[in-house]
Amino acid sequence: DIFPVILSGGSGTRLWPLSRSMYPKQFIRFFNSQNGSFLSAALGRLQQSSGFKAPILLCNNDHRFLIREEVERLGIDPLAIILEPVARNTAPAIAVAALVALEASPKATLAVMPSDHVVKDDAVFAAAVKRAAEVAATGKLVLFGIKPNEPHTGYGYIKQGSALEGFEGQAFAVDSFAEKPDRATAETYLAAGDRFWNSGIFVLNARTFLNEIERLQPDILQAARAALAGAKEDLGFLRLDKAAFATAPNISVDYAVMEKTGAAAVLPLNVGWNDVGSWASLWDIAPRDAAGNFVKGDAILEDTSDCFIHSEKAIVSTIGVKDLVIVDTPDALLVADKNRTQDVSKIVQRLRSSN
Ligand code: GDD
Ligand code: MG
Repeated sequence: DIFPVILSGGSGTRLWPLSRSMYPKQFIRFFNSQNGSFLSAALGRLQQSSGFKAPILLCNNDHRFLIREEVERLGIDPLAIILEPVARNTAPAIAVAALVALEASPKATLAVMPSDHVVKDDAVFAAAVKRAAEVAATGKLVLFGIKPNEPHTGYGYIKQGSALEGFEGQAFAVDSFAEKPDRATAETYLAAGDRFWNSGIFVLNARTFLNEIERLQPDILQAARAALAGAKEDLGFLRLDKAAFATAPNISVDYAVMEKTGAAAVLPLNVGWNDVGSWASLWDIAPRDAAGNFVKGDAILEDTSDCFIHSEKAIVSTIGVKDLVIVDTPDALLVADKNRTQDVSKIVQRLRSSN
């Protein structure tokens, strides 16, 4: 029994000024209003018609109606929409999901997915998740590895170990896992050629995962149990108990479990993965014209190439520029070098500290 678990807690500050804390990137329809949001793409990826169970969604309390709207639009009846009264990052969230799934099925496997990723081939992905579930059934915590092409410092790095018996050529033990290394370390990893990026998608047997959490981070399991014991059903949402959930350490599953466990395995994944972490990665997957420009809204471009342009009202006009990101909203305008869009979070930090 594979339960899709959708993590929708992030606020996507590097896609400011479109992504805002009250309306984060997973809900936005970036390319056109017909295309769905990233969240709806994640929900559509592992469907009940292809043998997956009803999904479990976890989000911040503030986004409950945005989530509900997406679920209803897609006609999906989730196993639970779990509301986190405070953000405690992904380790406590996944622990809660594992407990909820176990209650629904003693053999529950979780397919944990971020809500803000793009996977190009849904059928290949669904098949990979089923294969990963077979590996997870042998007591492994399964990660999907992406072949790295730059020393990105925002990802986890997986060192590939020996092939797993019965899954030769498909799944490997994980020798070590390093979350968000510094630049120099990432460069040595890339040069070594034996690392994958962690995709952020995990396939976990619920029982195995909870056993590892209990061993490595017992506080998390205790807080997750208490938060569920005190949870309240409310209008189709499951509201975790605030006081109990607040006692959970604020830590991602990568640091809490993946760096420390000896039970991780990796499946190389080749499906056109993009984590849409910045304007540059959004441009990568955006439909573009012959000059490489993505344009949404009104724009007049002269001798302009490889730009990402979004305007809600004003006519954007450019002359003789390349590799720019221009995002114009009613109350904020961003103009950035496309190669520097990781730094948009610096602007958001400055905005927050000045408010
Ligand atoms: N429900 C819930 N609650 N979801 C959360 C929370 C939370 O407190 N915090 C984060 N999330 C969601 C985010 O919305 C996103 O979909 C996913 O969990 C991952 O969180 P990020 O904050 O985006 O993590 P990251 O990008 O820094 O790193 C992770 O993803 C990389 C790949 O994109 C790690 O797993 C890395 O190892 C990995 O390489
Ligand atoms: Mg991310």
